[in-house]
Amino acid sequence: MTDTPLRIGIAGLGTVGAATLGYLTGENARIAARAGRALRVDAVVARDRTKDRGVDMASLRWFDDPIAMASDEGVDLYVELMGGADGVAKASVEAALAAGKPVVTANKALLAHHGAALAELAERTPGASLHYEAAVAGGIPAVKALREGLAGNGVTRVSGILNGTCNYILTEMAGTGAAFGDVLAEAQRLGYAEADPTADVGGFDAAHKLAIMAAIAFGRRIDFDGVRIEGIESVAAEDIVAARDMGYVIRLLGVAERGAAGVSQRLRPCLTPAESPLGKIAGVTNAVMLEGDAVGATILTGPGAGGGPTASAVLADIVDVARGNTPPTFGVAAAALTPADDGANDADRGAFYLRVMLEDRPGTLAEVAAALGRSGISIHRMRQHDHADGAAPVTIVTHACDLAEIEAAKERIAALDVCTASPVSMRIVES
Ligand SMILES: NC(=O)c1ccc[n+]([C@@H]2O[C@H](COP(=O)([O-])OP(=O)(O)OC[C@H]3O[C@@H](n4cnc5c(N)ncnc54)[C@H](OP(=O)(O)O)[C@@H]3O)[C@@H](O)[C@H]2O)c1
Repeated sequence: MTDTPLRIGIAGLGTVGAATLGYLTGENARIAARAGRALRVDAVVARDRTKDRGVDMASLRWFDDPIAMASDEGVDLYVELMGGADGVAKASVEAALAAGKPVVTANKALLAHHGAALAELAERTPGASLHYEAAVAGGIPAVKALREGLAGNGVTRVSGILNGTCNYILTEMAGTGAAFGDVLAEAQRLGYAEADPTADVGGFDAAHKLAIMAAIAFGRRIDFDGVRIEGIESVAAEDIVAARDMGYVIRLLGVAERGAAGVSQRLRPCLTPAESPLGKIAGVTNAVMLEGDAVGATILTGPGAGGGPTASAVLADIVDVARGNTPPTFGVAAAALTPADDGANDADRGAFYLRVMLEDRPGTLAEVAAALGRSGISIHRMRQHDHADGAAPVTIVTHACDLAEIEAAKERIAALDVCTASPVSMRIVES
C-alpha cells in the first residue's frame, strides 16, 4: 500500500457527487485498501457553498470555479459530476486532461458528444486518462464488462434497457392500462421523471449510453448523431394490450449490431417476448446484453441511476486510477478507432408490428391489406380491436420485411380515406 495519497477533487455535489463524497469519507479505509493507495478528497466545487451536503466538508478546500480546481496542483484526480455536454463540464475536463491528470466522470452527454476528441486528448497527454463507468447504466459495470471482460471477443451486438424512467412508464402502462401521459405525470410526482422529461422519454439519454457502448464494442469513433432515436411518446395503451395478446411486451430497446451494411445503432420502442431476458426487466431496472463470438450472450441487470448505484461506478473508476489501471478510453487506441458506417441503420429487416386506426365500415381491412401487398409486405397476423368514436384500431404483425417497405406501406395507408390517424409501427425483436 502506497502512503502517498491520491488527492481527489470532486466537481458537483448533487445526487451523485454527494453520494461519492459520502463513501469516500465514510468508507475510506475499505476503498483505499482495494485501491492499494491512500485516497484523500482534497477539494470540492459546486454552485452553492451554503447547501448542506450531508457530509462534513470543513477540511476540504472549496473552489468556486471547476476549471481552477481541475488545474490546481494540489489535485491529482479530477472527478466531474456536474453534467452537461458542453460548458464548464467540458472545459474543466479538458483542463484536467491537458494538465496530464486522470479524469473520472459520470457525464454521458459529454462522452456521447465529445468522447472522440477527449479520448485523443487523454491519449496524447502523458499522465492523462479518461474513465466513465458511471456514464453507462449507472451502477451496472457495463463499460468494464465490455472493454475488459470481453476484450477477447469479436462483439456482434450490444443491446439493453438503458433508461429506468421509460421502463417504469412502459411497465406501469402495462400494469394499469393507463395512458402514457397519465403514467408520465405520476412518474414525475414520484420523482422518477424530470419536470422536463424530454431527455428520458424522447430516448436521448438512452441513446447517449448506446453510442458509448457501440464505440467500445465495435472500436469505432463515437457517433451519437448516427443513432436513430425514437422515444416512447407514441406508444399507446392499445399497443401495450395488442402486444400482450401476442405474448410480447413493449420496451425501449437500444441495439447496436454489426450487419452486412456496417454497424447500426437504433434506440426505439420494440415488441419483445414477455419471457425474453430483456422482456422480463420491469420498473426502473436497467439491463445490458452483450454478445460476442467467443462468449455467446451475457446479461447484466441492476440499478441504472440513483446516488448510491452511480457512486458505485464512480468509485470503481477512482480505484482503477489509484491502481494505475488506465486502459485505452474506448478499448483501442483513439487513433485506431474506425469511422462510422453511414446508412447501416436503414438496412433493417425483420418482423414489424403496425397499428392503424380505421373507420368502422365494411371493406376497410381489404384496403389496408392491399396497401401492404403493394409495398411488398405479407401479413403474419391481423386483428381488429374494439372500437370507439367510429374508429377501430387494427393491429398487424408482418412477416420479415425491410424498414423501407414498412415506411412506404405507412404512407400508402395514411393516404387511404378510411384511415383516421397516422399509422404507428414498431420492430419486433425476438431476443
Ligand atoms: N443522478 C443519477 O442517477 C445519474 C446516473 C448516471 C449518471 N449521472 C450523471 O452524473 C452527473 C451528475 O448528475 P446528478 O444527478 O448528480 O446532478 P445534480 O444532482 O443536478 O448535481 C449537479 C451538481 O453539479 C453542481 N453544478 C452544476 N453546475 C455547476 C457549475 N457551473 N459550477 C459548479 N458546480 C456546478 C451543482 O451544484 P449545486 O448543488 O450547488 O447546485 C450540483 O451539486 C450528470 O452528468 C449525470 O448525467 C447521474
